[in-house]
Amino acid sequence: MQVIVRPDLMAATELAARIIAKRVRAFPDTTLGLATGVTMERLYEKLVHMHRGENLDFSLIRTFNLDEYIGLPADSRHSYRHYMNHHLFNHINIDARNTFIPNGMASDLKAECARYEKRIKDVGGIDLQLLGIGKAGHIGFNEPLSALKSRTRDKSLTPMTIVQNSPLFDGPERMPRRALTMGIGTILEAKELLLLVTGRSKAEVLSNAVEGPITSMISASAIQLHEKCTVIADAAAAELLKGREYYDWIFHNEPEWGEFRISANSDLQTSEFR
Ligand code: GLP
Repeated sequence: MQVIVRPDLMAATELAARIIAKRVRAFPDTTLGLATGVTMERLYEKLVHMHRGENLDFSLIRTFNLDEYIGLPADSRHSYRHYMNHHLFNHINIDARNTFIPNGMASDLKAECARYEKRIKDVGGIDLQLLGIGKAGHIGFNEPLSALKSRTRDKSLTPMTIVQNSPLFDGPERMPRRALTMGIGTILEAKELLLLVTGRSKAEVLSNAVEGPITSMISASAIQLHEKCTVIADAAAAELLKGREYYDWIFHNEPEWGEFRISANSDLQTSEFR
């Protein structure tokens, strides 16, 4: 795992976007795993900006989202399908038929989960999986006690997740209590993971996930098992990380980060999204 800390939310988001853009340019038919949440809104804004301003081409890529609420129709403004269309898909040249999100309205949820897993397998797996982290330590909706080998399935949401996400609904009672989510086992099979974490409110959960023991109580800690995982945090989210000095050394010295150091410097001069 590599942990890269950038000074602020914009710089962290920009770096994550540049890593994704690099992948899409190098492998135009890449399969991306996508995440939702407020953190990702800014990242998608940046990708849209790169599509418009830098000709970033999404015409051949495929996407699989981590999760979806159970019981929300795709056209509900609270569904993750709506979120993805609104924040990304409607603004880039992606083929909508290549965008996959679990169907939380399926009459047979088990069969839907099996279908989702098979679809991922049929395209050769996910090349780069984007992740955010919930305050309950989840990735996707893998709430505490999610088996580290779990596959796509339905999951009940914890009170903490309901508190975190219900402001996005018209009142907590309107928020679904269950969701379909890729499992930890599914996520770990992606060829590469990219976790983006911003804000002081995520500092504790991030330090547990990255520097604490691997435990199903913090499902994000399972990323420690992955052989190619990059964590990008802003300084606020990184506040409790003990290895900060070492992580910074890597970003400033390892050749693989050279091109990103240069763009990080030029971003300082033009640090805005549009
Ligand atoms: C939801 C999603 C997660 C995401 C989390 C973080 O719970 N299911 O995939 O990581 O939100 O959200 P935010 O970025 O809003 O903190």
